Amino acid sequence: MVRILGIETSCDETAIGIVEDGRRVASSVVASSQEFHRPYGGVVPEIASRVHVEVIWGVCEEALARAQCQLAQIDAIAVTQGPGLPGALLIGLAFAKGLALSLDRPLIGVDHLAAHLYVGEMTGSDVEPPYVGLVVSGGHTLLCVVHPEQRVELLGETKDDAVGESFDKVAKMLGLGYPGGPAIDRLSEEGRRDAVAFTRSTARDGFDFSFSGLKTDVYRYVQKLGQGAGDKGQGKDHTPRPGPLAPGPQLDRQQIADIAASFQEAAVDILMAKALRACQRTGLRRLVVGGGVAANRRLRERLQHEQQAGTWQVVVPEPSLCVDNGAMVAGLAFASLRRGHRSPLNLNIYTNSQLN
Ligand code: KG4
Ligand code: ZN
Repeated sequence: MVRILGIETSCDETAIGIVEDGRRVASSVVASSQEFHRPYGGVVPEIASRVHVEVIWGVCEEALARAQCQLAQIDAIAVTQGPGLPGALLIGLAFAKGLALSLDRPLIGVDHLAAHLYVGEMTGSDVEPPYVGLVVSGGHTLLCVVHPEQRVELLGETKDDAVGESFDKVAKMLGLGYPGGPAIDRLSEEGRRDAVAFTRSTARDGFDFSFSGLKTDVYRYVQKLGQGAGDKGQGKDHTPRPGPLAPGPQLDRQQIADIAASFQEAAVDILMAKALRACQRTGLRRLVVGGGVAANRRLRERLQHEQQAGTWQVVVPEPSLCVDNGAMVAGLAFASLRRGHRSPLNLNIYTNSQLN
């Protein structure tokens, strides 16, 4: 049995998972610094880095304890190399190198976005490339084809905001706090999806996405209803901002829920339209979805609905494996290790997506 310890520190989660033979998740521990970013309405890189340093050893001990194993029983150390926040990535990488060196085990750097998709392969023994991959996270939104040996062919990506970022920004406009995705998901249950017909920028023929038009549309609508002025809600753009807008006195809970549900429906429509197009054009019937927004209940429902209609076979991991975690890093590293890949100890980080 090959036991890999995977380390993920690309943004605000310090996460370590232990995975056996690339599939069985023995443990997955996630410590988030979200509460420290909340007053700023988005991730503050310096705070994220500091918290990673403070908690990473404890997260590692917890992951080992839950997997009921010792460090000496770990066969390889995997770590997210990028993309992500540079300071945050460097802490995970330094920690991984320290473990690899002291334990004399191979070090394997993996791509964060490829890892989000690989979790789909971990969910069932029959999930293998080629398939269409849809990554929907706070920093990225992309469609690709994953070929055998994890070779990724990019079909399209967002030209402006990532979909998770648009959830976070709209939540901020509505005074729902950070991170906004889960808050919008919850509140949408109380709202009407057809209350407001927000724009859906799916018209262009390719596979690229755009969410800024939708965000601006929601902003204008909220303004029109008389809510706060000035701040467009900067969400997860990693820059400290003045505190989030409180909902204006004119907006009651039902109005906010209606806006949330209508926005969510528009965002899901955009994702669905592009994913359908990708499956049609490539002729592939399997779709694997990963990244934090794949935890969204309405998106999951719509994806399953299309499966029942016979459109595709969709693979969406359980919500805890959609958001950032260390198990996905360890899983993908197993596939790399099997192909003989090892990273040098002078491995460096990268901050922008390498998928092209
Ligand atoms: O993949 P992830 O954990 O981190 C990045 O790689 O960015 O994704 C985080 C993003 C955030 O924007 C968060 O608001 C969004 O995923 N998210 C959700 C839900 N859970 C997390 N968005 C919509 N509905 C959810 N249930
Ligand atoms: Zn992620």
